[in-house]
Amino acid sequence: MSSIEDAIAAIHDRAPRTVAVLTGAGVSADSGIPTFRGAGGLWRNFHPQQLATPEAFRRDPALVWEWYEWRRGLIRDAHPNAAHEAIARLSDAAVITQNVDGLHARAGSRNIIELHGNIFRVRCTREGTRTMHEQAFDEIPPHCACGALLRPDVVWFGESLSNEDLAKAAAVVRDADIVLIIGTSGVVYPAAGLAPLAQGITIEINPDASEAAEHVRYSIQMRAAQATPRIISAIEEARA
Ligand code: OAD
Repeated sequence: MSSIEDAIAAIHDRAPRTVAVLTGAGVSADSGIPTFRGAGGLWRNFHPQQLATPEAFRRDPALVWEWYEWRRGLIRDAHPNAAHEAIARLSDAAVITQNVDGLHARAGSRNIIELHGNIFRVRCTREGTRTMHEQAFDEIPPHCACGALLRPDVVWFGESLSNEDLAKAAAVVRDADIVLIIGTSGVVYPAAGLAPLAQGITIEINPDASEAAEHVRYSIQMRAAQATPRIISAIEEARA
């Protein structure tokens, strides 16, 4: 564990130009969206790992869609918090997120890699066509005009991430003068394999112990909305 003051001092010493930000569900916890592995992660006694799979969707698409409609509703009503907003102030930062909630974009970040997709995008299971659909569906499970089932355009357990996104994310992390790792348990690969690639200053923000901590130099045990604005301000000051 490190103090935020130590991390801020390192930022002032290094005056980082290139910034990469790796985020997980914890960055949105302060917006009221439950994390996957924390309290509130259960829905009707199901773990996300039981529902976010191709097998669960094949077995019971209506159940999986009910869970997604619940999450889509929570996210629709949520707002970016001080952490998303501070990150968006650094317009040149590359944001690499495991989150499907779109809150970084709503906060104004532009350079975003959504490793696990976006919960408001849907994909036809027959044609593969992707469309944004933010509103609640009238019919559950929803169907494409072609008659096939629609699915959320997110990456489920057992599915592959885009190789192109992963390669780009790895390059960005390797080249960054500073890498912030915010609100991830660091247990889901391949996303969890990105932080160890960092060569610059590494700072984790997470109120609890995580698997990511062993790969970082500074581990700040604070909530994202508390610590992130201070870290981002330090980067702005160091660059000024
Ligand atoms: P997890 O739910 O595994 O972990 C969330 C992390 O956020 C934990 O380490 C918490 O301690 C931390 N946390 C909680 N509140 C926080 C706060 N206010 N500020 C900062 N951190 C906080 O979520 P992820 O690591 O994102 O994948 O999970 C990775 C992937 O597993 C998800 O993208 C999803 C999931 O199941 C798929 O669906 C494929």
